[in-house]
Amino acid sequence: MKTTRELRKELQFLEELPSPNFVIQRVISLVSSPETTVSQLHDAISMDPSLSAKVLKLANSAYYAVPKKIAKLSEAIMILGFKTVRNLALSVFAKESYFSEPIPGVDEKKLWEHLVLTAMAGEVVAEILSFPNREEVFMAGLFHDLGKIIMGLVSPRYLSGIVEYARLSKKQFHDVEKEFDAPNHCELGELIFEMWNMPEIVVQVAAHHHDPFNAPDEALKDVVSMVHLANAVSNIVLEGYGMNFAIPLVDVEVWKYLRLRPKIFEKIVNRTHEKLRYVEEF
Ligand SMILES: [Fe+2]
Ligand SMILES: [Fe+2]
Repeated sequence: MKTTRELRKELQFLEELPSPNFVIQRVISLVSSPETTVSQLHDAISMDPSLSAKVLKLANSAYYAVPKKIAKLSEAIMILGFKTVRNLALSVFAKESYFSEPIPGVDEKKLWEHLVLTAMAGEVVAEILSFPNREEVFMAGLFHDLGKIIMGLVSPRYLSGIVEYARLSKKQFHDVEKEFDAPNHCELGELIFEMWNMPEIVVQVAAHHHDPFNAPDEALKDVVSMVHLANAVSNIVLEGYGMNFAIPLVDVEVWKYLRLRPKIFEKIVNRTHEKLRYVEEF
């Protein structure tokens, strides 16, 4: 097992990992501005023809249930909206950059499905709460555990050790992490998303999805809490996919904060279960 000092030294290598390219960064920044037009977003994505084609393919996936085929990127932007198209571009980036090469100790396919299903479960929770920014919940859910992949790249043996210990002792991944004096997946996610200048909501959800009430920004606590809940749901529907081997618990304060009764949990699980068939499209 590596010491904290050794691991921290290796964090320097984080800078060498794939980061969002100019096109992705431009898409994120355009979508965050209320002044942006369809043609501006279209032109930004079109700079990368392969990304455009993949976004268009996802826009036509059954998950979005658009009644007619979307043939052009501008149509996708108008029909699905800026934020959803940004999420599709981010999903293409994350999958290609971090889930296409084998990493020792990680079942990438399963972890990717855990991320996609958490994003979808987050949308279910947002829908039930009539939360207006569902797309932000989706985006933050999609990236919440990327720190686990980063850990696998920084120190595959350390990650394998945690997974093995969690499996044998039937514990949650983050509970095992607490037993070691080393950076955990939340810290690694926070660090890398700050380096990439990702939206603050992505940074805070990565950092605090296991302790939502320590999120420093009061305004973001709702999304952090929704992803906390969505993560538990995703761990139940796809058991073990997120490298957790114990029944996930939802912080009792989260129910109060979101003004939800715990008995709605079953409904959220069932609705998320219905979305399972779309996970492979991402
Ligand atoms: Fe996590
Ligand atoms: Fe997770």
